[in-house]
Amino acid sequence: MSTPVKVAVTGAAGQIGYSLLFRIASGSLLGPDTPVQLRLLEITPALKALEGVVMELDDCAFPLLAGVETGDDPNVVFDGANIALLVGARPRTKGMERGDLLEANGAIFKPQGAALNAHAADDIKVLVTGNPANTNALIAKSNAPDIPAERFNALTRLDHNRALAQLAAKTGSTVNDITKMTIWGNHSATQYPDVFHSEVNGRNAAELIDDQDWLESTFIPTVQQRGAAIIAARGASSAASAANATVDHMRDWVLGTPEGDWVSMAVPSDGSYGIAEGIITSFPCTTAGGAYNIVQGLELNEFSRAKIDASVAELQGEREAVQALGLVE
Ligand code: NAD
Ligand code: LMR
Repeated sequence: MSTPVKVAVTGAAGQIGYSLLFRIASGSLLGPDTPVQLRLLEITPALKALEGVVMELDDCAFPLLAGVETGDDPNVVFDGANIALLVGARPRTKGMERGDLLEANGAIFKPQGAALNAHAADDIKVLVTGNPANTNALIAKSNAPDIPAERFNALTRLDHNRALAQLAAKTGSTVNDITKMTIWGNHSATQYPDVFHSEVNGRNAAELIDDQDWLESTFIPTVQQRGAAIIAARGASSAASAANATVDHMRDWVLGTPEGDWVSMAVPSDGSYGIAEGIITSFPCTTAGGAYNIVQGLELNEFSRAKIDASVAELQGEREAVQALGLVE
């Protein structure tokens, strides 16, 4: 067996953590031949609950689990981490404005970015799931100047998976039949799920559906509002599906995407598709050898361009807000 990969998870005693840790330890993240050491960060009052989760991890007797470290200090927990899954975040509470939420999360992601910068392994890959995920990732990245910017991603894979499920249901196919789905923009209600390049069994999805009204009135709002619909139905935000998407994103980043397909990843913009450089926004990406590439050369119709621009404008507004708070340059 190889040396264990050190996987840090924040918010480990939360609801996503309760699903995510067991998937990682069972081998879903890095495959059946790679042992993992879990390094779990929580706030002090949640350490007791985390103890219980660790007891349950022990009780699973996972052959690949090479140890668990817990703590409330990111400088200790991130020590030597090869992978960091930043899940813990401050949720919006009653009376809280968007600016308050960004500020509260800045207090989490600024020191965590600095701790990763100081203590993580050289090959660190960081994926932010905690909301507002794109801007939290931007804050962490801005506070980790020694880590290459492209190592900071945010999660839009849940939106991607939701879009696959909706398109499969509409076309009477399965998710296995669909390739080239794209989520553009922010992990928020402005995100743009784009099927104009998607294929269902090799046929262009938009042509196959041939129903712009369904796209505009059903598909796009369903995917955009799915998180809210789950909160309304379950009384709590998505957890198992969010953990699953977190695993999917990091697994594909490390192990690669299949030939002829791509996935949606929120990554620092390099200016592709005219999108402002530096913001962390969702693009179609392929991955190989532990690195991702933004898929180039897709033609965007007027409808897509307007939807992408709207979501990017929202992200630029978030960037300006955290710049004004001194959380990013
Ligand atoms: P939760 O409230 O059940 O758990 C969050 C945990 O984070 C708590 O245990 C809390 O103690 C911990 N935490 C808070 N501050 C921390 C800090 N500074 N360091 C370490 N841990 C800290 O929430 P959840 O349901 O697990 O969701 C976590 C986050 O993921 C939320 O922000 C949620 O909105 C977001 N989310 C994102 C997606 C996505 O697709 N990007 C999907 C679902 C949920
Ligand atoms: C989700 O997409 O399920 C989460 O981001 C929760 C939310 O607030 O929508």
